[in-house]
Amino acid sequence: MLEIKNISKTIKNKKILSNVSLAVENGQTLAIVGPSGAGKTTLLRIIAGLEPLEQGTIVLDGQDVTSKVATQIDGKVAVVFQDFNLFPQYTALENVALSLKLVKGQDKNMANQNAQKILDQLGLEGQINNYPFELSGGQKQRVAIARALALNPEIILFDERTSALDPALSSNVADLINSLKNKQITQIVVTHDMEFAQKVADVTFTLEAIK
Ligand SMILES: Nc1ncnc2c1ncn2[C@@H]1O[C@H](COP(=O)(O)OP(=O)(O)O)[C@@H](O)[C@H]1O
Ligand SMILES: [Mg+2]
Repeated sequence: MLEIKNISKTIKNKKILSNVSLAVENGQTLAIVGPSGAGKTTLLRIIAGLEPLEQGTIVLDGQDVTSKVATQIDGKVAVVFQDFNLFPQYTALENVALSLKLVKGQDKNMANQNAQKILDQLGLEGQINNYPFELSGGQKQRVAIARALALNPEIILFDERTSALDPALSSNVADLINSLKNKQITQIVVTHDMEFAQKVADVTFTLEAIK
């Protein structure tokens, strides 16, 4: 179980998060919903260890990992960023292989083989040599998901897209998220789309904007 306890965060003198607590069981999907500007991305970045924590604790499977989020949890947590953050100068295959080389220390052959395997599984076998500008929005999203899944994470964090996906794509992503449940991956999905949240979530947490 991942537990977030009493997290607060102030950025540039503005309180973004105030005493936020939530928990998600292993293998479950937690949706974090709330209006734009409520702090959803900030909360996700804190859980991913990308944002320093000023107050509160993070507990993973009973162990306090607050001071280790960026190191010990690293490798257990993978993030699918809201605009995917694919490297424009690398192909789909290279984008996935690069993180396997950097995070998992795999050599080039091994990284390429594993990247190809996961891209195949996500239906991207025809796009592995395409650059991001040669991919549709949905394909870019799947490459970003492939890159996260390739790391074999225990926890995967999805930030919502800034621009809306069309309904068919959004339903594909919902199917994909639901299929990952069978792999016992804990998922945290940030979205402002309640309908999407209902399709994927075992638990929903609403983050209110601070007045
Ligand atoms: N690096 C930053 N510098 C200044 N303000 C920020 C920064 N990051 C986030 N904020 C502010 O924090 C608030 C919450 O942002 P965010 O976490 O992106 O919300 P959400 O993802 O729910 O839309 C917003 O008011 C945003 O402008
Ligand atoms: Mg956001």
